Amino acid sequence: MQKKTALITGANRGLGFAMSEKLATLGNKVIMVCRNKNSGENSFLKLKQKNLDVILKFANIENIDDIKKLYDEVSSEYSRLDILINNAGVNLEKENVTIETLDINIFEKILNINLRGTILMCKYFIPLLKKSDSGRIINFSSGLGQLSFPRTGPYPSYSISKTAVNAVTKILADELKNTKIMVFSVDPGWVKTDMGGPTAPLSLGEGIDTPVWLALTPEKELKSGYFYKERQIIEW
Ligand SMILES: NC(=O)c1ccc[n+]([C@@H]2O[C@H](COP(=O)([O-])OP(=O)(O)OC[C@H]3O[C@@H](n4cnc5c(N)ncnc54)[C@H](OP(=O)(O)O)[C@@H]3O)[C@@H](O)[C@H]2O)c1
Repeated sequence: MQKKTALITGANRGLGFAMSEKLATLGNKVIMVCRNKNSGENSFLKLKQKNLDVILKFANIENIDDIKKLYDEVSSEYSRLDILINNAGVNLEKENVTIETLDINIFEKILNINLRGTILMCKYFIPLLKKSDSGRIINFSSGLGQLSFPRTGPYPSYSISKTAVNAVTKILADELKNTKIMVFSVDPGWVKTDMGGPTAPLSLGEGIDTPVWLALTPEKELKSGYFYKERQIIEW
């Protein structure tokens, strides 16, 4: 298999770190984008010590100037990007919050990172993805973003942000339908990470299975503009 260049946001811990390790172990180059200096450096060194082909970059995806600088650096160092994984995300809300009781500052913070950050990463990196023979954008969504999810609304801001990320996937896939870039939303399931908590049923390995598969599977086996979980298309 041809070596791919992948860029992963939120690569210092959780699913982002596990995907960085997996994609690099499978022989790909991984640009690990982290917000936190110390944790980013420690995570990068762990993979470097295994002789994996990883590169460390810093960006807070809330900050448009960080994303522009990241794009300038990456595009001056690499002639193409094959895989963009918009993994960085937050859920800062308490479980019992409702739209009536939510804190609008927390709502804005969640939307700025989960939605605006994802849109900015797509906006700036599409030109570099267009240089790939097989570009992929993988947007991290959630079952909580599924409109058919059977609930009255735990974590409303987080859910709304992920429903909107699904809209980004659908719109972008249509805009890019005449290019070689495929766009997907992925629900990793409920995974043991800092966000998922210790009682989550899935391991990191199980959580990264579908996004890694979406990143590397030949295009004829996939459908752009769809929402995937456990290697299957699921309802929006
Ligand atoms: N775990 C689950 O059960 C689950 C289920 C469904 C969907 N997801 C989604 O999967 C993705 C990864 O989740 P996770 O469980 O691995 O979460 P996590 O362990 O909390 O890690 C989140 C990552 O996002 C980064 N991040 C947050 N805000 C950022 C910002 N402004 N700029 C750059 N990086 C930022 C964090 O960096 P710092 O270290 O600097 O904070 C961290 O690396 C998220 O999009 C999440 O919504 C997770």
